[in-house]
Amino acid sequence: VRKLRVTLKSPVQDYRITIGRTVLGSVGVQVRRELGPSSRRAIIISNRRVFALYGEPVIEGLQASAFVISQALIGEGERFKSLTSLNRLVTTFSELGLERNDAVVALGGGVVGDLAGFAAAVYLRGIPYFQVPTTLLAQIDSSVGGKTGVNLPVGKNLVGAFHQPRGVIIDTDTLATLPARELTAGWCEMIKNGAVGSRQLFQQTTNFLRARKQAAFVGAHGLDKLIAAHCAFKAGIVAGDERESLKRTDRASRRILNFGHTIGHALEAVTRYRRFRHGEAVGYGMLAAGEISKLLGLLKPSELELLREAIELCGPLPRTGDLNERSIISALGRDKKSIAGKVQWILLERIGTARIVDGNEIGPSLLHEAVRTVLKN
Ligand SMILES: NC(=O)c1ccc[n+]([C@@H]2O[C@H](COP(=O)([O-])OP(=O)(O)OC[C@H]3O[C@@H](n4cnc5c(N)ncnc54)[C@H](O)[C@@H]3O)[C@@H](O)[C@H]2O)c1
Repeated sequence: VRKLRVTLKSPVQDYRITIGRTVLGSVGVQVRRELGPSSRRAIIISNRRVFALYGEPVIEGLQASAFVISQALIGEGERFKSLTSLNRLVTTFSELGLERNDAVVALGGGVVGDLAGFAAAVYLRGIPYFQVPTTLLAQIDSSVGGKTGVNLPVGKNLVGAFHQPRGVIIDTDTLATLPARELTAGWCEMIKNGAVGSRQLFQQTTNFLRARKQAAFVGAHGLDKLIAAHCAFKAGIVAGDERESLKRTDRASRRILNFGHTIGHALEAVTRYRRFRHGEAVGYGMLAAGEISKLLGLLKPSELELLREAIELCGPLPRTGDLNERSIISALGRDKKSIAGKVQWILLERIGTARIVDGNEIGPSLLHEAVRTVLKN
C-alpha cells in the first residue's frame, strides 16, 4: 500500500465591490481591468424587464471596452432558476465559443445572479463572472459571497457551487424602479445582518429606515453608505468562513446569516412559495426566533421589542393570521439546513450577538407558543 498526501495551496482571491449612482456605464471598464486584454467576449445574463430598464448602459460600456457582446434573457421569477435554464445558458456559452477568460455579467436580482454564477462556475469548470445586482436583496446579500445555484422541483438551492465573482458593481439608482415589496424584503435582510452580527449596523439601518419613513426621501448618499456597510459586513463573515463550515458554531460563522430562515422557509413552504417574498418570510422568521430566544431566557424582552420595531419599519408584511402553527412546525423537519436530521437554530443573546442552539434544547410546547405568538400578531 502506498500513501501520498495531496496538499493544495488555495489561491488567495479578492474582488472589488463598487457602489454608487450611475455606475452601470463603468461595468465595461471594470471587467476589462480585471480580465486584461486577452478577454474577448462578454455575455450579459438578465431577464426581459431588467434588461429593458438597464441593459443599454451596460452594453455600451462593454462595447467601449472592446468586448464582443451577447445576451441571454431568462423569464421572470424563481422558477427560472432551474436546471433547464442552466442547460440553455451553458449551451449558448459553448455555441458562442466562450473561452476561459471571457466574462459572464449577471444583471438583475438574486435569481439571475445565482443562475448566471452557477453557469459560470460549471462551464469549462469555471469562468469569470461579475455581479451587477439590481434588487436591494441582491445588492446587500446574494451578489457577495460566491454562493451560486439552481432549484430542483423538490426544493430551493439544492444544486449549486461556491464560485466567487471577479467583481460586483452596485448601481443604487436601479432601486428607483423596484416594487415596494422587493424593497421591504431587502430591508428585512438588512435587519437580519445587524441583529446577528453588529449592533452598530442594526442602529445605522433602523436610523435610515426611520428617516426614510418621515421624509419619504433620503439622500442617495445615505443609501450608498448603508449598502456599503452591509456588503462589508457580509464580506467579513464570508472571508472568515467561505463554505459555511458545519463544524463552526461560533458567533462569526457564516451560519448565523440563516437567522430567521428556519421558520421563514417553513412559512414559504406551507404557502407554496406564493404568498411571501423570501425576505418577508424571514421577517416573520426573525420574530419567531426572537420569541424563542426570549422564552429560553436568552434575550431580554426590551431587546425583542427593538427587533419588532425594526421589522415594522421595513414595511407591511403579508398576513399570517390564517396559518396554523402545527403545519409550520411540521415543515421544519424538512429544512435543508438541518444536520443529522436536527434543526439548528440561530437565536439571539442581544441585538448584535447571535447564538447557535441545537434543536433538542427547544421543547415542542415552547416552539408552539413562539410560533403562535408571531402568527397571531
Ligand atoms: N447566493 C446567495 O448568497 C443568496 C442569498 C440570498 C438570496 N439568494 C437567492 O436570491 C433569489 C431572490 O433574489 P431577489 O429577491 O433579488 O429576487 P428576483 O431576482 O426574483 O427579483 C425580484 C423581482 O424584481 C425584478 N427586478 C429586479 N431588479 C429590478 C429593478 N431594478 N427594477 C424593477 N424590477 C426589478 C425582477 O424582475 C423580479 O421580478 C432567490 O432565488 C434566493 O435563493 C441567494
